[in-house]
Amino acid sequence: MQIQKVSCFGAGYVGGPTMAVMASKCPKQTFVVYDINEQQINKWNTKQYPIYEENLNEYINKTIDKNLIFTNDIDLALKDCDIVFLAVNTPSKSYGLGAESQLDISYIDSCLQTIKKYPLTRKLILVEKSTVPIKTCDYINAVLKNLNICVLSNPEFLAEGTAIQDLLYPDRVIIGGPLESSQQLASLYEQWVPKDKIIFTNIYSAELSKIVANSFLAQRVSSINSISIICDKIGADVNEISQCIGSDSRIGNKFLKTSVGFGGSCFKKDLLCLIYMCESLQLDEVAQYWRQVYILNEYQKQRFINLIITSMFNCLRNKVIVILGVTFKAKTNDTRESAALMIIKKLQEEQAILRIYDPQGKIDNVEQCQSLDGIFQGASAIVIITEWEEFSKIDYVQAFNQMAKPSYCFDGRNLLSGDLMKSIGYLYYGLGRQY
Ligand code: NAD
Ligand code: UGA
Repeated sequence: MQIQKVSCFGAGYVGGPTMAVMASKCPKQTFVVYDINEQQINKWNTKQYPIYEENLNEYINKTIDKNLIFTNDIDLALKDCDIVFLAVNTPSKSYGLGAESQLDISYIDSCLQTIKKYPLTRKLILVEKSTVPIKTCDYINAVLKNLNICVLSNPEFLAEGTAIQDLLYPDRVIIGGPLESSQQLASLYEQWVPKDKIIFTNIYSAELSKIVANSFLAQRVSSINSISIICDKIGADVNEISQCIGSDSRIGNKFLKTSVGFGGSCFKKDLLCLIYMCESLQLDEVAQYWRQVYILNEYQKQRFINLIITSMFNCLRNKVIVILGVTFKAKTNDTRESAALMIIKKLQEEQAILRIYDPQGKIDNVEQCQSLDGIFQGASAIVIITEWEEFSKIDYVQAFNQMAKPSYCFDGRNLLSGDLMKSIGYLYYGLGRQY
């Protein structure tokens, strides 16, 4: 079977960029991105993209109205379709058994109910692109039992901020499931991904590999953050430790930046999903091992908040504090699970006056400044939460001259030179490096 038409349920951070890149690399196929949310589709169609991602524009412009369509019309999505990617959200369950731990596949389920009702006229390859709990494929097969479908797992590994690059040059593409359909799906990727980067596995391995990959990455962040805590006690510098251990090729130098804690929509939920699975399998020691990665992350956020409050002598009431960054990392507009959410809440509880700025991110129910103009005037402290490049280019001498004294700087990303900040006159606090 020659693949002609591909659809994707879910026009979010994954569905939009993934289909745009696929459409540009596979000009002979048509790609339809379907979403139940009308507003979301309107945004894509009117170029007011719901997500901020470098170079996304270029890939949408190349393909839209040629072989890429965003729609709310299910008929347009499913009629004569060969492959459907499921790229809908799978947050942690907020209710019932496994609440706050197990992934909620009810959005996947609603896709299945839609597909089940639709009069399919040909074989359909159904691809789990969303991150799902292990054996979700069995559930899909059970729901769609009498239909001519084949389920594959093809998890997505793009990171926000580098989505287009990650999609163009993936480290690997994993396809789990029956071989014939896997090869048909691979025929799409082979149009731009070298064959040796496409890994065929059994379907459970593919599902689990996604959860494990995110858990390992989260573990790296918690590991280096745990070392930052030791460094704070003994006067070693965590940035130097990262450099020293990262130059061992067995360890590698990526994901060794200490921070105010990992955020984002996926690390926490996928890690908790792994923990829940271990607990369900009565693997308590394994569950505890992974839970510590999560505990350490919460601790690191709290530690940073305590550092701010105690360094300012527990007296933040009516003091102006400038918050730089609300997104969970730079180069995205995504604020899901950002450390900023907890830090802002706690500083509000201290009755501080917050001036918040982020070049792309917006959080609900909080007033934000549109630019850095005048933001430092009379402020007692600067708190850096996101590592936007713009923040390293601020004129900190000018800012210092405008600020109330003493002037504090709490750098949750070790973005600035502590020596320089101290020489200007700031009371500067980084993570895991004493001054
Ligand atoms: P998202 O919230 O940005 O987008 C999900 C979209 O699915 C929403 O627009 C929603 O309206 C739509 N949707 C929900 N139910 C639907 C239905 N029944 N039919 C059609 N559309 C429906 O989510 P996301 O960040 O793109 O994540 C999607 C999945 O990909 C998740 O499982 C996530 O874990 C995984 N993932 C995300 C990233 C990332 O960087 N965000 C990376 C890799 C994997
Ligand atoms: C992560 C993974 O990197 C992707 O492979 C995966 O596809 C995606 O999750 C997902 O499943 O959603 P993402 O969350 O977009 O991507 O961003 P990361 O670059 O992984 O950063 C996650 C968090 O860890 C951020 O808050 C970041 O600031 C933090 N981090 C990262 C550190 O604190 N230190 C580091 O060294 C690296």
